[in-house]
Amino acid sequence: MARAYNFSPGPAALPEAVLRQAQAEMLEFGDAGASIVELSHRGPEFLEVARQTEADLRTLLAIPDDYAVVFTAGGATTIQALLPLNFAAPGQAVDYVLTGHWGKTAWKQARPVADARIAATSEAGGFRDLPPRAEWTLSPDAAYVHVTANETIHGVEFRDIPDVGDVPLIADFSSSIASEPLDISRFGAIYAGAQKNLGPVGIAVLIVRRDLLARSGQPRAPIFDYRAQLEAESMLNTPPSWNWYMLGLTVRWMLGQGGVAAFAERNARKAALLYAAIDESGGFYRNDVAPAARSRMNVPFFLHDEALNEAFLADARAAGLVSLKGHRVLGGMRASIYNAMPEAGVQALADFMRDFQGRHG
Ligand SMILES: Cc1ncc(COP(=O)(O)O)c(C=O)c1O
Repeated sequence: MARAYNFSPGPAALPEAVLRQAQAEMLEFGDAGASIVELSHRGPEFLEVARQTEADLRTLLAIPDDYAVVFTAGGATTIQALLPLNFAAPGQAVDYVLTGHWGKTAWKQARPVADARIAATSEAGGFRDLPPRAEWTLSPDAAYVHVTANETIHGVEFRDIPDVGDVPLIADFSSSIASEPLDISRFGAIYAGAQKNLGPVGIAVLIVRRDLLARSGQPRAPIFDYRAQLEAESMLNTPPSWNWYMLGLTVRWMLGQGGVAAFAERNARKAALLYAAIDESGGFYRNDVAPAARSRMNVPFFLHDEALNEAFLADARAAGLVSLKGHRVLGGMRASIYNAMPEAGVQALADFMRDFQGRHG
């Protein structure tokens, strides 16, 4: 069976080498006599997986020592809900910059427990651009400012880290973590669900400056308390050990490929290829995002004639290109081209698009 080029937004394509290693270790992990997913998370095998994974992630992302790493179930959405509980006092202002669906989701998660303000939004323009920094209304008393580094559905990405002064900046990097070098010291915290660029669904990562953990936050159960989670080394309850192990394999694969600097170059080339196929199509294909804000990871595009959508998807599938259907919020198409998508996959898609246009243009 041939594996297709899979453009799924998440859960997304994993490196084949990672899948093969997981397959080889599925029945027996090392000489443990059992799979890693069958062993206690408190046993020596899993504790070593967890230790190595954090060490590798720290190397990959150049995480400064004064930042803690929490591995957690519940996805990025749960982190969004826990941010104000952990880092804002009851009733304190928190500022959200909305540049797409996920920024809005984050803001909604905060609303029940904080004075969640919209500092800026590009919703009126259909989330096709970033609101200019000069037009943000930031609250001096805010506990933090939240941005979405890359909007997975709308295909809008911050290309520079916005300056928000002394208020900690918290960013959702779910769909762009590890895609290029990042100065984490510019953030109070960053977080990501793993299922796009870090591994499988079922685990998420929060990287947080330790001084933020000293904040008392709001009344919450220990399981929702990142301090308690860290004291328990992210094992306050049974962690998603299989997902954690898979994340570790994926991170090690990225290190072996040359790390984030190597992926930054590849990702820039991949994005350029795909946007060229769209922009040079003379309107047959269209991406509506302002060029300076275009995502390198998620490329939504539309056919000039929507009646061709089904044929496009069916022909793409036949050509070994899958998961190109756009999100229901936008319609059209979307190609997600995370680190595990090889340049050959994007080239194949660009070639297919030109061929399809030749037959239907
Ligand atoms: C940018 C971004 N933030 C948050 C989420 C929600 O993540 P989860 O499903 O892990 O809660 C997603 C999911 O696609 C996303 O793309």
